[in-house]
Amino acid sequence: MGEELPFRRYVSANVVALAPSGVALAILYWMGALAGHHALAAFVGIAVVTAILVHRYLHSLSRFARFVSELSGEQEPVMPRLSFAPATEELATAAATLAAGWRRQRASIDNLAASAQAIVDGLPDPLIAVDRQRRIVRSNRAAVALLGPLLPDRDLSTGLRQPELLAAIDSLLATADGNYVGPTHVAVDLVLSGVSERDVIAHARRLPRAAADGSLALVVLHDTTALRRAERMRADFVANASHELKTPIAGIMGFIETLRGPARDDAVARERFLGIMAEQADRMRRLVDDLLMLSRIEQHEHARPEAPVDVRRVLEGVRDLLQLKASSRKVAIELSIDPGLPQAIGDHDELTVVFQNLVDNAVKYAKPATTVKVAARLVGAERLAIAVSDEGDGIPAAHLPRLTERFYRVDNARSRLLGGTGLGLAIVKHVVNRHRGRLDIQSTPGKGSVFTVTLPAVAS
Ligand SMILES: Nc1ncnc2c1ncn2[C@@H]1O[C@H](COP(=O)(O)OP(=O)(O)O)[C@@H](O)[C@H]1O
Ligand SMILES: [Mg+2]
Repeated sequence: MGEELPFRRYVSANVVALAPSGVALAILYWMGALAGHHALAAFVGIAVVTAILVHRYLHSLSRFARFVSELSGEQEPVMPRLSFAPATEELATAAATLAAGWRRQRASIDNLAASAQAIVDGLPDPLIAVDRQRRIVRSNRAAVALLGPLLPDRDLSTGLRQPELLAAIDSLLATADGNYVGPTHVAVDLVLSGVSERDVIAHARRLPRAAADGSLALVVLHDTTALRRAERMRADFVANASHELKTPIAGIMGFIETLRGPARDDAVARERFLGIMAEQADRMRRLVDDLLMLSRIEQHEHARPEAPVDVRRVLEGVRDLLQLKASSRKVAIELSIDPGLPQAIGDHDELTVVFQNLVDNAVKYAKPATTVKVAARLVGAERLAIAVSDEGDGIPAAHLPRLTERFYRVDNARSRLLGGTGLGLAIVKHVVNRHRGRLDIQSTPGKGSVFTVTLPAVAS
């Protein structure tokens, strides 16, 4: 019984409890039914027992009070023994039940709040909620990743400094006594400077009413950098393709003029010019063929071809096709295919295009009287590696990362002279991607290059 009862309460409780028996004894004494010393002795006896009972009762009550106050704490308290205050025991049970229900509800509210934050954090786009005073209420992980730490209760301008956006949000938040009329949504184009510059569209939306946490407007940032880059690439591509076509067209037009005018009756010149015109037309045909091929592959780049392909047949076909061109440059093509090589998973025609391009490049850029080697072998359990190596000029390392871009060439003039379109490796890259394969390029300037294609194989 550690705790002390307040003395005054103890005394007054005793007085109240003793009052009826005291009054009864006084009446009996007054009526002469009891002798004075008898009445006094009886009163002392009653007082002693009352004092003990009152003490215990008050003690139980104070334990009950402590128990109830502890119910609102973090942990559920142990129910005390309240034997001397029977009614309090029922009260305590009821209070405990109430507290348990409340605790459950609080847990589910905490849960809801946590899952709301988890959902906000899970959004891929940066999101910031601000209150009526434009202070940050909450932000998600993407926002912190893009903008750095965003401290709650600080003005939004501590995270996003773009005056245009801040002004737009101010106009959203400026509400006339709740009678808000005006747009509830604004979008602002931003450029975020940082390690790398990012193009972003900020969508700011005003909530119909302030949320429980005080949020009144949501700002969502949508990164459009990739989109812009794709737009630029498309524009560049169209410009490049047009430029590639313009040269042969200009050439053909020039020869037509000459044949109509000065060379009208010159049979020798006519023959020669027609030959050049045919060559230019052929170059345009190749370019258009490559462009069509590229766009066809791009259209279904995400669908993976799934037929079993005999790699030996593909490579032998490519060799036969390029044999003539190779021997005219005194270059030999040598195939070495592991016996028992499993089939690749893919598309026969597309893989033919891949190796045709790689072997064609190897033959074109090889030094005369060297050998182009094509080696196919199994790597790991279910992948094939086909390496095309040449003894040629090689490619300086600085060019390697961009080699598979459309129209990217190490030496423009030389590529054109050799009849190249600059699209071959772009086609190779796309086809290999579509096959869930890989293209690795190794090159030593002055020595030669190795282009290795890795493809999934049919499990054997
Ligand atoms: N085997 C190789 N050896 C040296 N350079 C190569 C080789 N293959 C490709 N290249 C370089 O990569 C560029 C792009 O190749 P590609 O896309 O096939 O275009 P091209 O039409 O010029 O063959 C070529 O212009 C050339 O500069
Ligand atoms: Mg090529």
